[in-house]
Amino acid sequence: MRARPAMASALMGAASGDSCRRQQAGGAIVIHARLFDLECLAGSLARGEAFLDRGERDRAARFCKADLRRRYLLAHAALRMTLSEAVGCHPAELSFERSALGKPRLVLNSGVPFSFSFSHSGAYAVVAYGECRDIGADVEVRRKIDRPRALSEAIMSPREHSCPLQHDSWSLIRIWAVKEAILKATGEGLSRSMTDVSLSAAPPNAPILDQLEGDDGPGSWRLAFEEPEPGVALALAVRTEDAPVEFHLEVARS
Ligand SMILES: CC(C)(COP(=O)(O)OP(=O)(O)OC[C@H]1O[C@@H](n2cnc3c(N)ncnc32)[C@H](O)[C@@H]1OP(=O)(O)O)[C@@H](O)C(=O)NCCC(=O)NCCS
Repeated sequence: MRARPAMASALMGAASGDSCRRQQAGGAIVIHARLFDLECLAGSLARGEAFLDRGERDRAARFCKADLRRRYLLAHAALRMTLSEAVGCHPAELSFERSALGKPRLVLNSGVPFSFSFSHSGAYAVVAYGECRDIGADVEVRRKIDRPRALSEAIMSPREHSCPLQHDSWSLIRIWAVKEAILKATGEGLSRSMTDVSLSAAPPNAPILDQLEGDDGPGSWRLAFEEPEPGVALALAVRTEDAPVEFHLEVARS
């Protein structure tokens, strides 16, 4: 893996081997995110397919299209290789549980709080992890939205409607990524409407959560947004109990 040079935004730096350990610099919780271009890395990731479990293989087999099936397998190889490095075990030894709404959790005996989130879109996959309770990640690739006004209505909250609405495809996709990351952190995913999420600042600016309807959970939210490759939107959301958070992004190269 080659680390991307530090970026002058909220996401920077590079993950290292067992670096999911909380870094003591200022007691910050360090969230690592690793982005994979599945096509560029197909050769090295294909070796990791041997580590997938029965459930992952069965889910892959349900894809009718061969290219979707292949990308699913490569993305899950990337997931296992990243998490095994983070927690220090063999990729095939990782065991996952899922919540009723499908949020995966790594089964660990260490008792250390550890959370991860996983997303794939087109040729890209991202794995984000850290020593925290709730983390959400979403990656979206740039594409044309056929009915941007309808999508805008579907994802903007009533509070956001009082501001000028964004109608171009790329703005909407970036806002979608941030909101999906928040809803993946809560574990609700799209079972909850994105209109329940209000942002007071949105990409390309650093996103800020204004309100998550009815959210009276402890701690506060930290969000990050980056475009690590042209046309790739990557959003991270973390809820912490008031510890500072540092986001580190690595783009896997080999
Ligand atoms: C979470 C969700 C938004 C992901 O949508 P998606 O378009 O597939 O987006 P991504 O690629 O970004 O994320 C997929 C990954 O999110 C994770 N995930 C699945 N459900 C999740 C949830 N409720 N919360 C957080 N993460 C979840 C999984 O790791 C999944 O990858 P996998 O299926 O390959 O293991 C969507 O699956 C959802 O809304 N699920 C919850 C509600 C629901 O309808 N569940 C149906 C089962 S009861």
